[in-house]
Amino acid sequence: MKIFLDSSDEEKIKHFASYDFIDGVTTNPSIIATANKNIKDLIKEICEIVDGPVSAEVVGTKSEEMIEQGKRLAQIDKRVVVKIPANFEGFKALTALVSSNIKVNLTVVYTVNQAVLGAKYGATFVSPFVGRLDANGHSEGNLIKDIKKAFKNFGFKCEVLAASMRNVVYARNAIIDGADILTVTPETLELMMTSELSDLSIDKFLNDWSSLEEDKRYI
Ligand code: E4P
Repeated sequence: MKIFLDSSDEEKIKHFASYDFIDGVTTNPSIIATANKNIKDLIKEICEIVDGPVSAEVVGTKSEEMIEQGKRLAQIDKRVVVKIPANFEGFKALTALVSSNIKVNLTVVYTVNQAVLGAKYGATFVSPFVGRLDANGHSEGNLIKDIKKAFKNFGFKCEVLAASMRNVVYARNAIIDGADILTVTPETLELMMTSELSDLSIDKFLNDWSSLEEDKRYI
């Protein structure tokens, strides 16, 4: 399983990359907007930090625009994976970009059908938006599990990139359900590493250890 950082914060990306903790980065127009930088410069800089795929999204509404933008994004760096929305125009752009050997991440996926069509037409990743599904009153249910099952039925190589992981419970469920990749914010990634019980146990060990005479404590 791979972990991507869902962020455009270069300091945070550098921090996690320095520990070899992340296998890639995802962005979207909202995430890019928070950085207040030119998208091409920002994506180029992120590609220099991270040794893995970096997703950057098109913002056109017509397939022709998406194809043009997708081609320009792909020229930034070989690591760029172009995010295309799962809608009618997006699917037209997907096939065009794939036939130009551009890697595509089919985004805003909410159904098994969208995911399967993405895989069938050559997407490298499909991104089911688990947290937003839940936030809009639809149970996250078995979306990741069902997509994985469908991909297995057809032998699709496309990877399931669990997105909108708005808390550690979504992350845990996506892991259990077999997501190939989790994209998480720096905050969620930090929370995934810790537990109050771990902290309590560590405190107890250190406390007991301090009762041992000093000359017997040298490691
Ligand atoms: C990642 O590719 C998505 O853009 C991101 O996970 C969306 O997360 P959000 O629904 O919390 O904004």
